[in-house]
Amino acid sequence: MTPGPTLSNAGWFERARRVIPGGVDSPVRSFAAVGGTPYTVDHGEGPYVWDVEGNRYIDMVQSYGAVLLGHAHPTVTAAITRAAALGTTFGAPTEGEVLLAEAICARVAGCDQVRLVSSGTEATMSALRVARGFTGRDRVVKFDGCYHGHSDMLLAGGGSGVATLGLPGSAGVPGSAVADTLVVPYNVLPDIDDRVACVIVEPVAANMGVVAPAPGFLESLRTACDDAGALLVFDEVITGFRVGPGGMSGRCGVTPDLWCFGKVIGGGVPIGAFGGRRDVLSVLAPDGPVYQAGTLSGSPLATAAGLAVLDTVTPQDYEVLCRRAARLAGGLEGAFFDAGVAVQVPVVGPLVGLFFGPEPVTDFASAKAAVSSGHYAQFFAAMLERGVALAPGPYEAMFPGLAHLDQHLDAVVEAAAGAAVHVAANCSPVA
Ligand SMILES: Cc1ncc(COP(=O)(O)O)c(C=O)c1O
Repeated sequence: MTPGPTLSNAGWFERARRVIPGGVDSPVRSFAAVGGTPYTVDHGEGPYVWDVEGNRYIDMVQSYGAVLLGHAHPTVTAAITRAAALGTTFGAPTEGEVLLAEAICARVAGCDQVRLVSSGTEATMSALRVARGFTGRDRVVKFDGCYHGHSDMLLAGGGSGVATLGLPGSAGVPGSAVADTLVVPYNVLPDIDDRVACVIVEPVAANMGVVAPAPGFLESLRTACDDAGALLVFDEVITGFRVGPGGMSGRCGVTPDLWCFGKVIGGGVPIGAFGGRRDVLSVLAPDGPVYQAGTLSGSPLATAAGLAVLDTVTPQDYEVLCRRAARLAGGLEGAFFDAGVAVQVPVVGPLVGLFFGPEPVTDFASAKAAVSSGHYAQFFAAMLERGVALAPGPYEAMFPGLAHLDQHLDAVVEAAAGAAVHVAANCSPVA
C-alpha cells in the first residue's frame, strides 16, 4: 500500500528548495515561467500522475517524451524488475546492450551501429566529437531554438528551458566553447562550407514549441552537407521511436550520417545513444582515436526497459497514436476558436504544440513572438486546476502517448474549452 501523503506540494517544495538549487533537478520542472508551486509527483499510472496531495492529473508531459506506453506500464515494470534482480551494473558488456543496439539498428534505416550512453546530452555531445574527429573540422552549425542538451558547445540559441527562462545561452560557458558553434534560423538553408564538421538539427523542432520542418528543408540540408563534405546529424532524442517506428528519418526519407537518441529508448530509465554509418563510427575508441566513455553506459535497467518498449509498440500503434494526436489538436483548435482566442496548434505525427496568436510559427523568432503574448501561464494554471498537467513552459510539446485513449484526450479538450474561456476573460485578445 502507498503510504499517505505526509506533506503538501508546498511543503515538499519548501524542503526541496533547501537542499536542491531552485527546488528542481532540471529547470524545465520549475514553475518559474508560469507561477505557483510545482506539484510533487507521488506516482503515475498510464496517462495519469497523482501528486502528494492525492490530486490526479492527465499527464501530457510524460517525462518530456521519455514515456511512450504510459506510466508504470506492466511490461516495462516487469522488465526492469527482472533486470534489477540480476544486478544493476557491471562495467562489463551485457546482452541487453547488444539486443537494444540491434533493435535500434534494425528499425532505423541507414544506422549501422549505435553506442549507448546515459542521457540525450551525452549523445549529442559525443556525436559532435565523432563528427569533428571524422572530418578533422571544428565548426558546428545548429539551429536557433533547437535544444540538444546542456553541453557547453551546444548551449547557444537553445530552446526548451533555456528559452523559457529567457537566457541567451548559459553563464559558465566560455566563449571559446561556442566559438565554433554557428547558430542559424530554423527552416532556412544555411551556408555550409568546408570548415563545417556537421550540421545538427532536430528534424522536427520540439523545444521551441512544435515546429515542423518546411517542405524540402531536411532534403536541402542533406544535399548541402554532401556538397561541403560535412556530416548531417539528426537529433532524434524526442522524435526517435515516437513519430514512427523508424523515427523522423524513417518518416521523411532523409538519411543523416549520425543520429542521437534518448528518451523512448530507455523506457523511462536514463539513457541516450548515438549512432550512424559504420565508417563514421569507426573513429571511436577503442578502434579509433575519438575518446568517449561512461561507467553506467548501457545500464541493464535502461536496456531492459527500452527493449520492452520497442518490442511492445507496433507500427499500427504509431498510426493510432498519430490519429489520436490529430484528434487532440483538432479538439484544442475548436476549443480556442469557440472562446475567441487565436491559436496555432501544430501537429507533427504524435507531437502536438500550442502557440497563442494568429501567425503560423516557422522558427524561433516567430515562436518567441507567439510566446510574448504571455497567455500560456494563464492557460497552464487553468488546465492544472481542471486536472490536466501540461509542461510548465511555453516552448514544450504535448506528449500524448499510447496510454492516452480518446476518452482521456477528449477530457483534455473539455478542460481546454474551460481554460480557453478563462484565458479569453483574463487576457487582452490576440486575434
Ligand atoms: C532534442 C533533444 N536533444 C537532446 C536533449 C537532451 O537530453 P537529456 O535531457 O536526456 O540530456 C533533449 C532533452 O529534452 C532534447 O529534447
